[in-house]
Amino acid sequence: MAEDLHIIQGTKEEQYKELIPQIKGLLTGEPDLTANLGNICAALKEQFSWLWVGFYWVKPFGSAQEELVLAPFQGPVACTRIRKGKGVCGTSWAQAKTLIVPDVEQFPGHIACSSLSKSEIVVPVIRNGQVLGVLDVDSTELNTFDTTDQKYLEEIVSLIEISTNEN
Ligand code: SME
Repeated sequence: MAEDLHIIQGTKEEQYKELIPQIKGLLTGEPDLTANLGNICAALKEQFSWLWVGFYWVKPFGSAQEELVLAPFQGPVACTRIRKGKGVCGTSWAQAKTLIVPDVEQFPGHIACSSLSKSEIVVPVIRNGQVLGVLDVDSTELNTFDTTDQKYLEEIVSLIEISTNEN
């Protein structure tokens, strides 16, 4: 397939509806997790121009614990490790649910990787009831994300195929 994305104007819903088939095209036939997470970040960043789009992945920490570790992303440099229950990402992991944060300053324990971030959405990647990682999106504006983003970002992360040796 052509590597160029078709970027459209329109409502948020129209943008997602145009983007999702293109993301499916990018993922089809490619089994490598890093490549696929990278292309999802790039596609979302290019279409929506958000401040930061990226994944944190659950990885072993010490002998018996796990933490989120920075994975493919687009945007400014970011914190590399987040503990379970910490920040928006660690809370989404602990609760295994999407969190929409209209104003990051109102979220207790929010981890400020960039002072430019004003609102945020974090979507867990869940397989067999287990959170394998999270998709985190940050915006420079307040109140950027709503249930439309939740619906389509959850659909996008559901497209990620994860083989057992990569999680
Ligand atoms: N704000 C996140 C940390 C990750 S950065 O936004 C990239 C949090 O509170 O978990």
